[in-house]
Amino acid sequence: MCGIVGYIGGDQAAPLLLKGLEKLEYRGYDSAGVAVYNGKQLEIAKAKGRLKVLSDMLEEGKTLKGTIGIGHTRWATHGAPSDINSHPQVSDSGKFAVVHNGIIENYLTLKNFLTGKGIQFVSETDTEVVAQLLEYYYHKYQCDIFEAIARVIHKVEGSYALGIICEDCPDELYAVRKDSPLIVGLGEGENFIASDVTAILAHTREIYRLNDDEIVRLTRGGVTVYNTDRDVVEKQAVHIDWDISAAEKGGYEHFMFKEIMEQPKAIRDTISPRIRNGKVVLDDITLTREQLESFRRIVIVACGSAYHVGVVAKYALEKMTRIPVEVDVASEFRYREPLVDEKVLVLVISQSGETADTLAALREAKRLGARTLSIVNVVGSSIANESDDVLYTWAGPEIAVATTKAYSTQLAVVYLLALYMGNLLGTISQETYAAGIQDLEKLPDQVSEILSNREHIQYFASKNFNAKDIFFIGRNIDYALSLEGSLKLKEISYIHSEAYAAGELKHGTISLVEDGTLVVALASYLPLFDKTMSNVKEVKARGAYVLGLTVEGKTAIEKETDFVFYLPQTNSMMQPSLMVIPLQLFAYYVAAMKGCDIDKPRNLAKSVTVE
Ligand code: AGP
Repeated sequence: MCGIVGYIGGDQAAPLLLKGLEKLEYRGYDSAGVAVYNGKQLEIAKAKGRLKVLSDMLEEGKTLKGTIGIGHTRWATHGAPSDINSHPQVSDSGKFAVVHNGIIENYLTLKNFLTGKGIQFVSETDTEVVAQLLEYYYHKYQCDIFEAIARVIHKVEGSYALGIICEDCPDELYAVRKDSPLIVGLGEGENFIASDVTAILAHTREIYRLNDDEIVRLTRGGVTVYNTDRDVVEKQAVHIDWDISAAEKGGYEHFMFKEIMEQPKAIRDTISPRIRNGKVVLDDITLTREQLESFRRIVIVACGSAYHVGVVAKYALEKMTRIPVEVDVASEFRYREPLVDEKVLVLVISQSGETADTLAALREAKRLGARTLSIVNVVGSSIANESDDVLYTWAGPEIAVATTKAYSTQLAVVYLLALYMGNLLGTISQETYAAGIQDLEKLPDQVSEILSNREHIQYFASKNFNAKDIFFIGRNIDYALSLEGSLKLKEISYIHSEAYAAGELKHGTISLVEDGTLVVALASYLPLFDKTMSNVKEVKARGAYVLGLTVEGKTAIEKETDFVFYLPQTNSMMQPSLMVIPLQLFAYYVAAMKGCDIDKPRNLAKSVTVE
C-alpha cells in the first residue's frame, strides 16, 4: 500500500529518494516524506498531498543534503493523511527515523506501554510505535541497532516492511520485512532498499528479495542479511531484466492507456513461450496427470480484478476439465474455515503477488494440505515464492492502479491451463485442443485490431461520460466479464455502476432503471444471445439507453440496442479477452473526459498489502 525507498552511497540521497518515490507513488499517494542524515543529525521533510508537494518544497531534493536517507509515499491506514502522520516517523529524541509499509496490529498495547514509560507520541500512526520502541530498547538494553530491531520485531504483531536509519550510526541503513514486500538493490559503492524494483531500476538491476524477518544492514560498501539470531544468511542475487521503458510513460498521457495499448505484446509474451509444436507446454509446473486426476475440486482465490479472472476461469476450467470449480474472494476464504484438503487444487491469482488477503488465503490453503498453484506477474513475490507451482504472466511492470494488461495476461494463462489440463485428463478431444491453441495464438492480433478501432468507443464515451449510474449485464462468460467492466469504470471514473447476470436484474435491481439509464449489454456468448436480448428488451421497456457488445455478424443486436460495438469472434471461452478491451477503453475515456486522476484514483492503491 505504501512505498518505501532507501539509499546509502556517494550521491545526494534526497533527489534520488524523490525520484524513486515517483515510481512508487502508485502504491499510495496521500502524503510523502524523506529523512536524510545531514552530517550532524537526521533531517526530516514531510508533506500531506501528492509527492509533488514535497518535491516542490525541497526543490526536488536540492535543499536537503546528505548521502544516506529513507523515503516514503503513504496510503493512510492509521490516522488521516496529514503532515504529522506522514512517514518517516521518528523516535522521541529524533534519533531513529522509520518508514513503514503494513500494519502493526498490536500498536495500541505497545503505545500504552510506552506512554506509561513517559514517551510522548505525536502522530496517530501505528508506525510511530516502531520508532519509539526502537529507541526505548536501544537505551534500555544499551544495545546496538541490530539488537534493538530484533527486539522490536519480536514484540510487534502484524505486517511490516521497515526502512530504518539512526543518528548514532550514520553510515548504516537497516531494513526488515514480514508479509510486506521489500527488496534490496545492490550497487557499486551504493545500495538501496525499495518496495518494488521500479524505484531503483535506474541504478541497479541486481537485487536481493528478503524473506520474512531477515534483517538487512546496508553500508556503502556492502549488504549483509541476517536472521534474527544474527547469523548471516547467504542470499542469491536476482537479475532484473525488465526494460526500464516499461516502467515509464513513454509519451503516453497515462500509464493506464499505455498499458491498454501494450496488451497485444503482453498476451503474446505470455502465450508464445508456452506453445510448442502445437502443444501447450507448461514447463513451469510439476503437476502430474495422476495428481490432476486426484483433485475433486478446484478452488480459485483472488481479489478485485484477479477475482474476476477467477470467475472467467471457473467457466473455462469446468468446461475443459469437468472438475467442479469454486471461486472465492480471498478475504472471505481465509476466515470461513474453507473445506479444502489434499484433494483440492487451490488456484491463486494475483498481479502483485503481495496482496495481503490473497497471500493469507494461500497460506490457509497450504495449512489445510491443499496443492497450490498461482498465477502471478511479479517474479519472486511472496505468493509466487510460497506456492507449490507458479505460472507467471509476462505483462511486465503494471503501474496504473486500474489493472488492464495484468488482467488480460491472467486470462491468457487461464486458457493455457484449461487446455493443458483438459488435454492431460483427456476431457477434451484432440480437435478441441488443437482449435483452442490456434484461437489462443490469434488473440494478440485480434486485440490489436480492436485497439485500432478505439475511436468508436471514444465517441460513445464522449456522449455518455456524464452518466450517473451504469449497469453491465451479461450471461455466462459475459457475466464474468461484466464484473470487470463495472469495476474498471467505477474505480477510475467514480460513476456508480453495477454488474448483473442478465437474468438476475429483474429480481430487484431493475427498479433502478429509468429513462436514460445506461446499460451495457454483453452478448458474445452466442448460445444465450437470444436470452440476453430478452433481458435487453426488459431494460429498454423501462427507458434504458443500451450499448450492445457482440461478435461480428450478429447484427440482430442492432434492433434491440442504441449503439453497437462489434468484436472479432473467437472460441467462446476466450471471448472475454476481446470483450474486455472496449470496456477498458470506455472506462478510460470516460474518466479522461471527466478529468479524473486516472493512474491514481482516489482512495485506492495498486498493491493492497493490508487486510
Ligand atoms: C483492479 O483494477 C484493482 N486495481 C484491484 O482490484 C486488483 O486487481 C486487486 O487489488 C488484486 O491485486 P493483485 O492482483 O495484485 O493481487
